Amino acid sequence: MAKKFQTLKGFYDVLPDRQRLWRYFEDKTLTILDQYYYQEIGLPIVEPTSLFVESVGLDTDIVEKEMYSWEDSLNKDKLTLRPEGTAGCVRAIIENSLTYNGPVKLFYRGAMFRHENVQKGRQRQFHQIGVEAFGFEQPESDAEQILLLARLWESLGLKDVNLEINSIGDPCDRKVYREKLIAYFEDNKEILDDDALRRLYENPLRILDSKNKEMQSMLNSAPKLIDYLSESASNHFKRLCNILKEHNLKFTINTRLVRGLDYYNRTVFEWVSNDLGSQGTIAGGGRYDYLVEKIGGNKTPACGFAIGVERVILLLENLNKDNENILPHVYIVNLGDSARPVAFKISEKLRDEGLKVALNMEGSSFKSQMKKADKSGARLALIIGDNEVGNKIIQVKLIRNEGLQQAVNIKDIIPYIKEKINFDK
Ligand code: HAM
Repeated sequence: MAKKFQTLKGFYDVLPDRQRLWRYFEDKTLTILDQYYYQEIGLPIVEPTSLFVESVGLDTDIVEKEMYSWEDSLNKDKLTLRPEGTAGCVRAIIENSLTYNGPVKLFYRGAMFRHENVQKGRQRQFHQIGVEAFGFEQPESDAEQILLLARLWESLGLKDVNLEINSIGDPCDRKVYREKLIAYFEDNKEILDDDALRRLYENPLRILDSKNKEMQSMLNSAPKLIDYLSESASNHFKRLCNILKEHNLKFTINTRLVRGLDYYNRTVFEWVSNDLGSQGTIAGGGRYDYLVEKIGGNKTPACGFAIGVERVILLLENLNKDNENILPHVYIVNLGDSARPVAFKISEKLRDEGLKVALNMEGSSFKSQMKKADKSGARLALIIGDNEVGNKIIQVKLIRNEGLQQAVNIKDIIPYIKEKINFDK
């Protein structure tokens, strides 16, 4: 039967099984961000539409056709649900003078919104953990962010993810290149699709991003921006590549990687998984040395990236990962009127000790309670019936060790549990 209300297309509930993986992912990510001394900043979900138009760029897919924008009926402000986090983060550092005392390294996390065609790995509400470093001009900053991500994939156990990098130079390098590229595309006009023809004079670099199979061989032979870099941009890129090599990080230079947002210059990079089909990019970013000044701040070099959380979660699901850290230690099975209050008291006592405790409060049959104990992922089941209460004991069952069950005196139960699950060790 159709439900009266359902989530909108491209919007999803994150059910508890999956939410556990999110916690696992977030815990690992936050630990590594702490190691690199990135500090968290909280940013609004709604910003003025003009912030995104000016930073992401008027003729990008995001601004052209993917933003959830509306006019506030009360004061006529033009507002947008953030499609990405960099613009808001830049607004925040300018508004709060966060770089007044020198460079800062920030990260944010939360929902982003893009009205895209929905498919696996591509949603209309999705989540990012975004990382931005302000005030660092040298390639060490780009390298540090790339190595941070490599460390994260390693700690999550993700194996088949590949790094692609490129340099798209500075705006002056791109001016010369743009002319060359337009001339090349004009010579190949009959191969260009409608999208490419539309972009030809407005944003020819984005044509390089096209996935249209019929255009691939023409695009592969197009002039390469990397051949038009200034000496300083070229050195910056070489130094970045050298640092990555020194750290034994494998990467591919993809000369067609330009990224879909207008603010980038010099370094751009993406981490791509082969296990997600066409939406395989799990993190992307790069340098944007001109954006802070463009939207009203002082000239501030910057670089950053964002991780697509749902895509990483899909990979973790394939690995059958679970988050041991948030499973209960103990599941309390209880049967009978005198057992119920004893079980309740013990559950609170165990929580006083810092243990995670699931207490059965449905009063269902023994069999059904044991099934729930199994499913909960707890290490131990405590079984309390009226008999146990009378004898002042508790039956303790090692859930993942079929058959192992022992009667323990109630007064010894806390040290017994702690020893069995290695708690505090
Ligand atoms: P982006 O490449 O647009 O960059 O998004 C970053 C990541 O978010 C993508 O690699 C992908 O994993 C995920 N993502 C994007 N759109 C969707 C979607 N519709 N559904 C699911 N996941 C998605 C940015 O947003 C830049 N702000 C990154 C950045 C930060 N550059 C510098 N600093």
